Amino acid sequence: MTDAIGYELLGDIAVLTAQNPPVNALGYDVRTGLWEGIERAEKDGARAVLIYGDGATFFAGADIKEFGKPPKEPYLPDLCTRIEASPLIVVSSMHGTALGGGLEIALGSHYRIAVPSARMGLPEVLIGVMPGAGGTQRLPRLIGVERSLDIITSGRQIGAREALDLGIIDRIEDGAPRDIGLAYARELLASGAPRRAISEMPAPEPVDFDATYEAVLKKGRGQLSPAVAVRGVQAACELPFAEGMKRERELFMELMATDQRQGLIHAFFAERAVGKLPELEGVDPRPLAELGVIGGGTMGAGIATAALLSGLGVIMLEMSAEAAQAARGRIEGNLQGALKRGKIDQAKFDHLTGTALRLSTDYDALKNADLVIEAVFEDMEVKKQVFGKLDAVCKPGAVLATNTSYLDVNEIAAITARPADVIGLHFFSPAHVMKLLEIVVADKSAPDVVATGFALGKRLGKVSVRAGVCDGFIGNRILARYREAADTVMMDGSNPWEVDAAMVEFGYPMGPYEAQDLSGLDIAHANRRRQDATRDPARRYIPIADRMVAEGRLGKKVGVGWYRYPGGGGKVEDPLVEDLVREEAHYAKVARRAFTGDEIRTRLLIAMINEAAAILDEGIALSAADIDLVTVAGYGFPRWRGGLMHHADTLGPKAVLEALRRFAVEDPVAWKPAALIERLAAEGKSFAEA
Ligand code: COA
Repeated sequence: MTDAIGYELLGDIAVLTAQNPPVNALGYDVRTGLWEGIERAEKDGARAVLIYGDGATFFAGADIKEFGKPPKEPYLPDLCTRIEASPLIVVSSMHGTALGGGLEIALGSHYRIAVPSARMGLPEVLIGVMPGAGGTQRLPRLIGVERSLDIITSGRQIGAREALDLGIIDRIEDGAPRDIGLAYARELLASGAPRRAISEMPAPEPVDFDATYEAVLKKGRGQLSPAVAVRGVQAACELPFAEGMKRERELFMELMATDQRQGLIHAFFAERAVGKLPELEGVDPRPLAELGVIGGGTMGAGIATAALLSGLGVIMLEMSAEAAQAARGRIEGNLQGALKRGKIDQAKFDHLTGTALRLSTDYDALKNADLVIEAVFEDMEVKKQVFGKLDAVCKPGAVLATNTSYLDVNEIAAITARPADVIGLHFFSPAHVMKLLEIVVADKSAPDVVATGFALGKRLGKVSVRAGVCDGFIGNRILARYREAADTVMMDGSNPWEVDAAMVEFGYPMGPYEAQDLSGLDIAHANRRRQDATRDPARRYIPIADRMVAEGRLGKKVGVGWYRYPGGGGKVEDPLVEDLVREEAHYAKVARRAFTGDEIRTRLLIAMINEAAAILDEGIALSAADIDLVTVAGYGFPRWRGGLMHHADTLGPKAVLEALRRFAVEDPVAWKPAALIERLAAEGKSFAEA
């Protein structure tokens, strides 16, 4: 037996204990151990087998680190079948997260019990594959096709209560997984309960699988795995069990061979690597209990909401009693949403909006805060005033953070007598929903202040990425180039809806123009005015967005921007915008020409990659994977493509360079290749290796 599975015989019950920290992933040793454990239990004359996990969880799934390598026997589907085929009564006792292959082991068992806090699910589609060890065959037999399709195509986790209601598990019991499992196994033996194999249950009733496939494919915006998983469930209805298992395996292997699977797994591991900074090794974060937020607009209220939901006390500072009241209204509105979705109950809502949240108009209220984030108007002078006041009232050791999207954090820090305590925490709106947090490290930020930023991000459930100081940090600096390339394509012959359609086809939830309509054209406009003084005069400037602002077309909030929103509803294309674009092109003497969707996509992507390469080279981002996370978690880049730089590596630096050189013939300033791309192309290296 391998060490990964412990074996004990307690009377007539054999106990198989998974011991493969941190998450009992079903790697080779675990699979072998389970197989041998079942055989040994049968030889030892046991009448029942209990399977449970030591440590934090039951098996959290197949070992993702083995993906892409040649599979080694025993294979997981065979193991599930072997467990199910045992003449002994097999019980799985679940706690933690029984995910993917973990749940499939449980479905291969004859009885399932779980602690109340256990969560389970088949999240394989989220990493680009699908259940491959009988999940698509057993679950529909157990709970029906529609419920299985929901669980399998969404990859969502369900709690023990829902699992019991659905019939996935037989019982919920409080206690140690080993104890409740043993008691259950004894009870089953005592009552002479039969062995129950799900594979022997009748095939489930089919649905219209072609229609489901199409609907799921559409919802996935180009992501294949959820749709392909539908075909697996279809096989459960149409084929005998053993044939269905074969079909499931084929589909699984098909997905395993895709770039999408690589992209999604890249994103999974990048998310787990991003916070592990060498500079923070052995550095403890400062204590965090009370958070101050200055400014209760959409951003500040979102940050306060996220903090409250994470259990932090919040003091919200506003300029006047009316503004404070409005801020409270926004925060309560956000929390109402959480209440409606069942994320919190009424008692928690009352606590969060009662004692946990305080509002004030007096800076003195911040004197005990452990960390203060300002989310005031994006203007250097305003920010400096705020930091001057914070410096005067905050306790020693308090972390002073700015939520600026573009401004120089060094300059803000320099206004205080404690620049080591100052950091940028760039949230994305709405801050209680959006996953990304850029942690902007200024020249003098102390390591434990940076560690505190990451600790806060973790507590709030964010993907935290370290960024250096520059105009726009990682995300907005790339966004500026994305928009510039879009505006150029539009000026030279396209229009907003063609550009948007091209990017939606790539996998973005929306294109750059619809996104601007949502955030408001005035924000980017103010930013362009700020940059006027430092903009390279040789760089081509497209004035269309300025014209839009001049004409009051500020976006959805006023009912008209790049699109029209009649009655505040869905967007419609606006021929007036086309006229405006044509007019500007005419003034600028541009000979317009049509662009295909492919041409549009290539230009926008190459422009972003070029800027991202400079960001990487300057050390503003620590790795290509960090840029991937920023683009995926904050800017809608399709996760299944792995992120901007992972995508760039699928093209290859050489191809990127060739495209840049081709475009540079038209405009050598905008398309000047970043030095890093030239270097990587010459050395035959990837962005990941940069
Ligand atoms: N295979 C290999 N390693 C895994 C893994 C898996 N299935 N699941 C998690 N890990 C690793 C993580 O990479 C991390 O490693 P690190 O400490 O070296 O960074 C460690 O286990 C802890 O995971 P983490 O996600 O940081 O912990 P958590 O407590 O926040 O979440 C899970 C635990 C299990 C919920 C989460 O890791 C998860 O969703 N895993 C994937 C589950 C899955 O998709 N299973 C189906 C596979 S077919």
